[in-house]
Amino acid sequence: MSDSLRVGVAGVGTVGAAVTRLLARQADALASRTGRKIVVTAVSARDPGKERDADLKGCEFFADPVALAASPKIDLFVELIGGAEGPARTSVETALAHGKSVVTANKALLAAHGLELAALAEEKHVALAFEASVAGGIPIVKTLREGLAGNSIERVYGILNGTCNYILSRMEREQLSFEQCLAEAQKLGYAEADPTFDIGGFDTAHKLSILTSLAFGVRIAPEAIDIEGIERVSLADIAAAGELGFRIKLLGVAQRTAEGVEQRVHPTMVRKTTPIAEVMGVLNAVTIDADAVHELTLVGPGAGGEATASAVVADIADIAKGVRSAPFGVPTAALGELRRAPTRHHEGGYYIRLSVPDVPGAFAGIATRMAERGISLESIMQHGGARRSADRADQGHAAGEALRSVILITHATSEYLVREALDAIYADGVIDAPAQVIRIERE
Ligand code: HSE
Repeated sequence: MSDSLRVGVAGVGTVGAAVTRLLARQADALASRTGRKIVVTAVSARDPGKERDADLKGCEFFADPVALAASPKIDLFVELIGGAEGPARTSVETALAHGKSVVTANKALLAAHGLELAALAEEKHVALAFEASVAGGIPIVKTLREGLAGNSIERVYGILNGTCNYILSRMEREQLSFEQCLAEAQKLGYAEADPTFDIGGFDTAHKLSILTSLAFGVRIAPEAIDIEGIERVSLADIAAAGELGFRIKLLGVAQRTAEGVEQRVHPTMVRKTTPIAEVMGVLNAVTIDADAVHELTLVGPGAGGEATASAVVADIADIAKGVRSAPFGVPTAALGELRRAPTRHHEGGYYIRLSVPDVPGAFAGIATRMAERGISLESIMQHGGARRSADRADQGHAAGEALRSVILITHATSEYLVREALDAIYADGVIDAPAQVIRIERE
């Protein structure tokens, strides 16, 4: 058996502790699979005295992760600190500069600096591995980079944030408020330190930017993603979606179009008959449309200590075996520039919910504005019961006026036509509040 692989782990929180436990539990199997013993010899953490669910006896403690990254006592540096800058970035740069391979779960770091870090890893002939950075325990990085190497990918999309999927699932199943569901997700440890990263769609966007690069062989471009979070999704939308045969999911979508690559993160209507619609709770899922496999969906745990540790340990095992792939599938210098296709030109179906006065002709006016732009409606649904609020009253429309919630599902059309039709409807001064618009993802 070759020499042991000496691992240094920076950050011993939920994931870091799970990595040390998994390496210990699977020590024999990993040694026979890789031909080497894998030993955690050093760790760094902000509070060395803190009680942890991990046996760190025999590990050297470093207060400074950068000192750990530079230490001659480790061969491989595992970064589980998080954040795009500060100690995470500096320690990863230091480890690579010292000729050590790096394993990281840090999607924010990769989205911001992945290309420079990959170039540094290539220059130093070491590995930069990040399976755990996207979709937790689902081996999506390896699937895109190695498993589908013989395919041309047309679209990759998925549920990439467990917190949002947990919130939307609980709102639907138990009719609970958004705030209640978020508090529970935080209690269960799914959410980021700042949960606006989850619910605002930014965590999904970081992960999507990595998938886009792997799928299309282009440079990471998180700034070219249109992002909407789930804050505006209401129980009324979830119920209406259900009645119409849809479910609402926060999706990250990257799609090749004639104009370039469309990257978008937003609440999305998915038909209940699709595999992705059945993915509930903290689970993640990624669907890939590619020429040879056609459609492939991977489903699994997207957050949580053990699931994320599974991906980290898989990367460590590869490095122990001497596997060193180009981090983004092709050498960094060979990655193409991403040509951004504007979401305004997106073609698809739309869910539109409007609050309309219950008077003759009100709905006809809306239908006319749609028809003028050639927008064809697939279904129309109405619910009553609401009243116009005082702050929305004006001369033509008194406070307390009866309102109906009108829900439209359009056939495929262009986003700019929908926006134009809505602007015309707003200018008519009939509806009570801005419309809720949710894109429908095609099957
Ligand atoms: N906050 C993330 C999620 C954790 O909810 O999916 C995994 O990146």
